[in-house]
Amino acid sequence: MCGIVGAVAQRNVVPILLEGLQRLEYRGYDSAGLAVVHDGQIERQRSTGRVVELTAKSANTNGQIGIAHTRWATHGVPSERNAHPHLSKDKIAVVHNGIIENYEALRTRLTAAGYVFTSDTDTEVIAHLIHTHYVQGKTLLAATQESLRELVGAYAIGVIASDNPDQLVCARRGSPLLLGIGIEEHFIASDVSALLPVTRRVVYLEEGDVVQLERKHYQIYDAQGKPVTRAIVESEMSNESVQLGQYRHYMQKEIHEQPQALADTLESVCNSQSLVPGIFGAEASAVFDDINHVLILACGTSYHSGLVARYWLEEVAGIACTVEVASEYRYRTSVPNPKSLVVVISQSGETADTQAALNHAKSLGHTHTLAICNVAESALVRLCKLRLLTRAGPEIGVASTKAFTTQLAALFLLTLVLAKQRGRLTAAQESAHLKDLRHLPTAVQKVLDLEPIIAKLAEQFANKSNALFLGRGMHYPIAMEGSLKLKEISYIHAEAYPAGELKHGPLALVDKDMPVISVAPNDALLEKLKSNLQEVRARGGELFVFADADSHITEAEGIHIIHMPEHAGLLSPILHTIPLQLLSYYVALQKGTDVDKPRNLAKSVTVE
Ligand code: F6R
Repeated sequence: MCGIVGAVAQRNVVPILLEGLQRLEYRGYDSAGLAVVHDGQIERQRSTGRVVELTAKSANTNGQIGIAHTRWATHGVPSERNAHPHLSKDKIAVVHNGIIENYEALRTRLTAAGYVFTSDTDTEVIAHLIHTHYVQGKTLLAATQESLRELVGAYAIGVIASDNPDQLVCARRGSPLLLGIGIEEHFIASDVSALLPVTRRVVYLEEGDVVQLERKHYQIYDAQGKPVTRAIVESEMSNESVQLGQYRHYMQKEIHEQPQALADTLESVCNSQSLVPGIFGAEASAVFDDINHVLILACGTSYHSGLVARYWLEEVAGIACTVEVASEYRYRTSVPNPKSLVVVISQSGETADTQAALNHAKSLGHTHTLAICNVAESALVRLCKLRLLTRAGPEIGVASTKAFTTQLAALFLLTLVLAKQRGRLTAAQESAHLKDLRHLPTAVQKVLDLEPIIAKLAEQFANKSNALFLGRGMHYPIAMEGSLKLKEISYIHAEAYPAGELKHGPLALVDKDMPVISVAPNDALLEKLKSNLQEVRARGGELFVFADADSHITEAEGIHIIHMPEHAGLLSPILHTIPLQLLSYYVALQKGTDVDKPRNLAKSVTVE
């Protein structure tokens, strides 16, 4: 959600900034801009739309120090005047990711002091605040530190000044920012993918850090202004992992990466003969001994993985589980249970709603916390006592795919470890589950082989405006996930129902123009589901049924059957996710939407 890049070097930094922005575009893509210092002046270029527009505008811009930004609008519509960087009196330029909550009060004060606002953003107050201190003779660093004391809210910022061609100042609180260490050049970025062409050596900043960067030197100050040293780490993210390669879109690439992502996530477990709590951290065994309930908090697709986990945890581990949408949880009065394990699930580990929910749970006295997350250095991972990292690799497409299935794999591991610790898993069951997990990547690959069939099927959705998704039991959340994917990237209105609910209302929607997509694994609920499907067919609804090979549902007029290659028992929700991802992808292609950057959305939702 908004991407920041900055650089101070001996070479022209504009190509570095533009390349970095391209790579961060998934974080926001309604406008972009950059500013460099050149001959004692700030040169700024901004444009609405994508980074390519900015690139075209910046052909004649150059400078050895600069900051750049790609925006996902919060305050103020997407427009050139609201695009970052924001300037104060042509002296200070600022890029910002996050939200300044007290910006209205600051804006009133700064307006009274004679500052003229040229945008509707909260960011502009930061530029003017820094300016007020800077013109009083403070260094850029001191002026920034002074200004940050007055800000309430979340920020990652980059700052330059027209009369200071050697120093770039940056800071973070609540929004991610890291430093890139080059040879006699330094960089800042919202995430490491932006810097891969120039360096892999990075420093992850801590909450409240402020940094002064020069070409040959940098110094980090903590929230109290004390100079501190933070570790330099070599990022393991490879340049190839963020390249499209043979694929047309990142979403397609990421769908196809699922066998590997699952294999990587399960690697340590599948190579061993038995499951140990230690995979969740050193304190896991003691924590798991002390719990009688699991409370899962997450948003969007990650929330759906939590919903599946509830079925597993209650059925296999025999432990009560509640799953809450993170953005709702903290605004209701709930009854805390100190014996709950609070599990936060997130691809990015940055989602503001999930972080706030976790903090709320802690404030209620919950101490047993576990993060299931795809980003090792993220805020959520740092905030939790226990962790299990999914190893899906970078997910660039805005619609989450491989992050979801790896979350499911991680949650299944949690289920098995808790079941074992609670004496509900025999050695034979444990080894049978491990065998199934080892086979999972192969099983997923076989489902991916259905791609041509699903691509063909998608043609029938191109002219539809609505769709219903049905599932039962642990496949109901998979229907929800299928419906979310279709909405997100094809803009077709879709809703998911547990199939038994149809007759309680939604059946009224069913007619020949309403495609009904059904997840129909061969499980205990199959016969019930078949009756629900008959209810649809009797009203003229067209059915698209993802059935297991042994589900015995036969193709007929208005009933299209897609046979899944194999039945995966408890792991079936993972397999049944794949064709729904492919369906959304191919429907979106039919509709000609921007698959990787659907309208109005952004990856990593770091605002409330
Ligand atoms: C949907 C999607 C979102 C995210 C949600 C939470 O495809 O990607 O619904 O799942 O914004 O994000 P994370 O998992 O990063 O906390």
